[in-house]
Amino acid sequence: MTKPATGKFELDDFVAAAMSEFAKKEEYIKTTVSPTIKAAMAAAVVEEEAAPARVVKLRDSEVEYSKMFGSVPKNIPDFGVAKFAGVPECVTHLIPRVDDKYVVQTEEAARLVSALMDGDKVLMSGPTGSGKSSLVKYVCAKVGAPFIRINMSADAESSVLFGQLVARDGATVWEDGPITEAVKHGAVVLIDEWELMPPEISMGLQNLLEDDGYLFLKEKPGDAKDKTFIPHPNFRIVCAGNTVGQGDDTGRYTGTTAANETDVNGEDKTEDQSGSHLQMRVSSAIVGRMR
Ligand SMILES: Nc1ncnc2c1ncn2[C@@H]1O[C@H](COP(=O)(O)OP(=O)(O)OP(=O)(O)O)[C@@H](O)[C@H]1O
Ligand SMILES: [Mg+2]
Repeated sequence: MTKPATGKFELDDFVAAAMSEFAKKEEYIKTTVSPTIKAAMAAAVVEEEAAPARVVKLRDSEVEYSKMFGSVPKNIPDFGVAKFAGVPECVTHLIPRVDDKYVVQTEEAARLVSALMDGDKVLMSGPTGSGKSSLVKYVCAKVGAPFIRINMSADAESSVLFGQLVARDGATVWEDGPITEAVKHGAVVLIDEWELMPPEISMGLQNLLEDDGYLFLKEKPGDAKDKTFIPHPNFRIVCAGNTVGQGDDTGRYTGTTAANETDVNGEDKTEDQSGSHLQMRVSSAIVGRMR
């Protein structure tokens, strides 16, 4: 921008720049904030007019986020959190133990918890060691969610993750992989290093990531009914990585071709609203329209 000649122009430029920043923030909130937060924001505005104290309307079995996690988020209003219900016996062993030494990063935790409560898909990005995986594990421990972690790599095999025919006791039987187990019984699946996901696996996940999506295992023997799995209400997917899907200049993220297209809204690349010194970002629902 060329330097303005007069004070008036400087002020105009400043106002224009401020308005554009404001518009960007508005857009950010519109595109990344999950329905629970939006509802809480709307409720907070109404309640502020009626009474200055912030009141969280809790449904049965919910407690305030701030009570469960021990601190009040600054950037979003407090909201109700329910523990995962109806966890089948066969996956209770996957619920992590609460790590008492864990230091809660409130803004990120609140975004993640809110998205999990809403059933949204979540994308986390941040540098190595910024605490992405630990946050998901900790949140699962607190809300009583079975937790499955998958470390993605460029040579990951779809059969290992979804299921395959194996020889057992002289017979060939189908054995479900961890993603299929999570879909059937309900669990939070953390896909670490999701940028490396080979196209074969992202294709397998496509239907699942749609709203009201399902899993279709074409390799599984049987008819269409045997191959189709409607996700358990507790099934969630969280993708974590170092980028938000565009790879990087080093060519390190070679497996990003199919996954790039999942970053449908294209937001959340320039701004860190979390206030975290660790620069971790949690966005919800932006991997929801994988095509
Ligand atoms: N909030 C926290 N409180 C205490 N320890 C933490 C916290 N966050 C992360 N750590 C510790 O920091 C280390 C790195 O965290 P973590 O593995 O979660 O990072 P990451 O972002 O998933 O890294 P990567 O990109 O390599 O997967 C772990 O040993 C973890 O226990
Ligand atoms: Mg990790």
